Amino acid sequence: MQKKTVFIDTDCGIDDAVAIMMALAAPELEVAGISCVAGNTSLDNVVNNVCGLLSFSGRTDVPVFKGAAFPFVRNEIRSDNIHGASGLGNVKLDASAKSIDALNAVDGLLKTAEENRGMTLVTLGPLTNIAIALNLYPQLKDLLGEIVMMGGAIGPGNVTPHAEFNFAYDPEAIAFCLSAGLPVSILTWDAVMDMIYTEEEFDALDMGGTAAGQLFLDLQSFYMDYKESVYGKRLISFPDPLAMACVIDPSSVTESEKMNLGIILDQSDARRGASVKDEKFGGYADVITKCDIDKFSALLKRIKYIGQKG
Ligand code: RIB
Ligand code: CA
Repeated sequence: MQKKTVFIDTDCGIDDAVAIMMALAAPELEVAGISCVAGNTSLDNVVNNVCGLLSFSGRTDVPVFKGAAFPFVRNEIRSDNIHGASGLGNVKLDASAKSIDALNAVDGLLKTAEENRGMTLVTLGPLTNIAIALNLYPQLKDLLGEIVMMGGAIGPGNVTPHAEFNFAYDPEAIAFCLSAGLPVSILTWDAVMDMIYTEEEFDALDMGGTAAGQLFLDLQSFYMDYKESVYGKRLISFPDPLAMACVIDPSSVTESEKMNLGIILDQSDARRGASVKDEKFGGYADVITKCDIDKFSALLKRIKYIGQKG
């Protein structure tokens, strides 16, 4: 089987960790590198979480590159309530066996793209690293194949009534990336909201019984506690894992629309960070709003067998 080479840019919170595990478990993918960016948690936490996850998975061969510590314009947007103080809820992973690469995220991305022309870039966090990379190295655009992002919302957002976290955290970065004219697919918050698991549906996934399956359950329990505290129900959604599913199996996408997508940048506009069809300061994108739940569940279940430490 011809493997798809992927480079992952992440702000490694709980669901990023699950998405990374899905990528590591996928025989269809070769993970060539992971870059870290601040977002769901601090940059230092992101580095620690990614290194811990790779150590747990027995994949310390995958290079990890440290990137941007802040968005272009600083803000008060935080998600510690959802991802916990460390970014991984109450999970503590031993990261001591894995060191970061000497290259920063931008240089690491360029080098990996030069060595793997046409590779897929998957972004699971704010676009700060990618915007800097495209600005410093415009040739990157021609080295990349597809780009799949988790971010944005056509309907209501999650951090404001209008905007989704990844785009709202660094609106200038995503606007710059869109305006660069990349072949980008965006898995939006709309698709996430369309695929919410109840506790019964979650239990039916039957993820226990292996070390990796238990890690998945431990990660999700913090998130489900949060949902219960806010909505009174232990609901679960999978933003970044859904984006990864679209990379592993593009037929997971059941509804998408190619459109000119713009980002609201005005600091005095309550919609700042929102992604809007036909708005200025953006570009062309394939916007994904629905996925196949059975295909997604099947790809998710594979992570039980990562590492197989017991
Ligand atoms: O908006 C959804 C948030 O959860 C984003 O940060 C996404 O990347 C996921 O981690
Ligand atoms: Ca994320």
